[in-house]
Amino acid sequence: MTAQPLRSRNWFGRQDLDGFAHRSWTKSEGFSDVVFDGRPVIGIANSWSELTTCNAHLRQVADAVKRGVWSAGGFPMEFPTISLGEVLMKPTAMLFRNLMAMDVEECIRAYPLDAVVLLSGCDKTTPAMLMGAASADVPAIMLTGGPMLNGRWREEELGSGTDLWRLWTERRAGRLTEEEFCEAESCMSRSSGHCMVMGTASTMASMAEALGMTLTGNAAIPAVDARRYALAELSGRRAVEMALAGGPRPSQVLTAEAFDNAIRVEMAIGGSTNAIIHLVALAGRAGVPLPLARFDELSRTTPFLLNVRPSGKYLMEDFFYAGGIPAVMRSLLPLLHGQAATVTGKTIAENVRNAACWNEDVIRSIEVPISREGGLVILTGNLCPDGAVLKQSAASPHLLTHRGKAVVFEDHADLHARIDDPSLPVDETSVLVLKRVGPKGAPGMPEWGAAPISCGTATRSSWTCRAGRSPCA
Ligand code: FES
Repeated sequence: MTAQPLRSRNWFGRQDLDGFAHRSWTKSEGFSDVVFDGRPVIGIANSWSELTTCNAHLRQVADAVKRGVWSAGGFPMEFPTISLGEVLMKPTAMLFRNLMAMDVEECIRAYPLDAVVLLSGCDKTTPAMLMGAASADVPAIMLTGGPMLNGRWREEELGSGTDLWRLWTERRAGRLTEEEFCEAESCMSRSSGHCMVMGTASTMASMAEALGMTLTGNAAIPAVDARRYALAELSGRRAVEMALAGGPRPSQVLTAEAFDNAIRVEMAIGGSTNAIIHLVALAGRAGVPLPLARFDELSRTTPFLLNVRPSGKYLMEDFFYAGGIPAVMRSLLPLLHGQAATVTGKTIAENVRNAACWNEDVIRSIEVPISREGGLVILTGNLCPDGAVLKQSAASPHLLTHRGKAVVFEDHADLHARIDDPSLPVDETSVLVLKRVGPKGAPGMPEWGAAPISCGTATRSSWTCRAGRSPCA
């Protein structure tokens, strides 16, 4: 029994020329008349790609979603989207996030879909899919691909990204041989899934869950854990229910309260600074005003709880065993909008009320947080008149107020060419500054002319740089 007519009936329910064509061509895939009996059509938007290494297992995940859709009486139809792989795509996957959002939006709108399951993983694929779904506003549920297992090299646990930089520094310093460096390479990424630190992929998966766009517990289940495939099946089943009920639609989930909840979680987990860019873009799609000041406001009143790299000691697999996002949100409940709607059909408070924390060294309690304030701060100053974001949870405390001579590079190419030059006037107090972040002539950071930035100061609420003056006032 449907609460409202299904969109797909405009394609498959017609007894005219168009209906004939829609059914006939679909039958070319081997489907019988049964699939046109009025059951909801569930799209599975799949960002699978072998070029997006973090999403390379999503075809198997899609099979589990289909199992759920069939078992709940729906008709699953999987379709590809463009895919953005953070590591292999140049010059940067960020260049294509909005293109992917448009791809997802237009496919959902143009095809006979009554609900959609969004399969994402790598950094930009999650926000792009959420943005597209928000604009199309057809019932949508997200399922992320999950993090890789913890990296392990000899007796050491390796976190993607975080430890890559450290190992490379060790190699450049000659403290690691080329053989050792190569050996670590296969030990860091040893399963399917996205980066297993709290980088952008894990953060955006956490944001999707905190916003109410995934089933409870989605973000931290490792990619290879059987429970991710079980959750995929349940997501497929839930999509059928949402299609029959006509919702909730993204516009009913992505409310101002949901964004507040996500920002609180972002601050509590010390999430990626990129999440702010993506949340602001998503809020724009959802029609929710979200100024940068709101992030700072909530950061000041949200404790930082999660001891996961790059802000802490553990990795995403440990986070999963400790209770994942539900445990964090349960701790934060007094600060959250508990009545916010979610794709489960229940409120956030109902979803996480019984969540347990199994390791208080990984997820600290709200009474004994790692820090009383959130992981990110919003900075303003003459270097960033429109505001900038700093991840204070990952910074060495002594660097939060810092004075040092600036070493200025023209751009990335200049930095790479000179960074190992023994004659570079640099010491441990130096601040490395790029005058331009893109290729020559590309829009990027403003140029400061001939006068080099001579010093920088970052504090909780301000960041100032003065050109051509030394020492800092
Ligand atoms: Fe895809 Fe890190 S490269 S999440």
